[in-house]
Amino acid sequence: MNENRNSFKGSIGFVLAAAGSAVGLGNIWRFPYLAAKDGGGLFLVIYIVLALTFGFTLLTTEIAIGRKTKQSPLTAYSKLKSKWKPLGIIACIVPMMIFPYYVTIGGWVLKYLLVYITGNGHAAAQDGYFSGFIGQTAEPIIMMLVFTIIVAFIIFRGVNSGIESSSKIIMPLLIVLVLGVSVYSLTISYTDIDGTTRTGLQGLGAYVIPNMKGITVKQFCTVLMDAMGQLFYSLSVAMGIMIAYGSYVSDDANLGKSINQIELFDTIVAFLAGVMIIPAVFVFMGRDGMTASGPSLMFVSLPKVFDSMGFAGNVIGAIFFAMVFFAALTSAVSIMELLFQALWMNLS
Ligand code: PFF
Repeated sequence: MNENRNSFKGSIGFVLAAAGSAVGLGNIWRFPYLAAKDGGGLFLVIYIVLALTFGFTLLTTEIAIGRKTKQSPLTAYSKLKSKWKPLGIIACIVPMMIFPYYVTIGGWVLKYLLVYITGNGHAAAQDGYFSGFIGQTAEPIIMMLVFTIIVAFIIFRGVNSGIESSSKIIMPLLIVLVLGVSVYSLTISYTDIDGTTRTGLQGLGAYVIPNMKGITVKQFCTVLMDAMGQLFYSLSVAMGIMIAYGSYVSDDANLGKSINQIELFDTIVAFLAGVMIIPAVFVFMGRDGMTASGPSLMFVSLPKVFDSMGFAGNVIGAIFFAMVFFAALTSAVSIMELLFQALWMNLS
């Protein structure tokens, strides 16, 4: 099996595929709401310090284990040391648990993408729209199944024609869309009925400037734990994924350079997701809107923001959800690839 294993053709393909796994709902959906909840700047500073230390070390270790053993995570640890076998099993259980939840939210994103493409963004901004949608029996399941079928299609095309080729198209497109929407978000402004004008640049300040006033040790620890959890999730580390992708990397690739690029990609997209979302929510809903929304920021607050932009909101909404869809797709592909690899390599 090992002699004719698929492998990434080039280091760019590998970097984009691994960055595709790392950049996902965690960056665009989870990072901004945690940053908003934890007061912006402080969360950002802690996250960046953790990314440069823990993140870099874990990413390097996992990719190197994959490249050295050329095994799926299920058996890679035991190949290094037989006592480490349980680590491989645990590493595969986590993505198994994440996958159903990931494709469910992927299905929600697909639904919102279709709503905006068909020009129905106004409906999505109404109170109760989101809870009405997820409360239905059939539609969320159908959306999840369609999303899963697209993921499976990419996997069955193989590492080169599926994962590598799709990442080479999707990831650069994603960066262009993220940059475009971020710039737009910084240029908007809105005047309330009480005459208060808020601008995107003020929203950026609310996002990046650390607010340490009156912060307690307990609050600091909460921010630290949030940033740590987010780091593991966002970089797709400690879940076997990077071992699986590392096993497809050729022995002469420059790992250090590739890992820097993957981390940079992931952190920049997470930061820019905050630039896209937080100033827009701040402008249209004020500071309270930023912190009150939590996980519903993307499916409840943002549609209201798009709706307040008039016709342009439908177009921006469609671009935004297309971007989230692509990001979620490449991450879901990496989870399914790991599960497929662990099963296939150990059954064949
Ligand atoms: N890193 C992905 C994200 O930020 O959305 C999520 C993820 C993918 C987590 C793959 C775990 C995983 F195995």
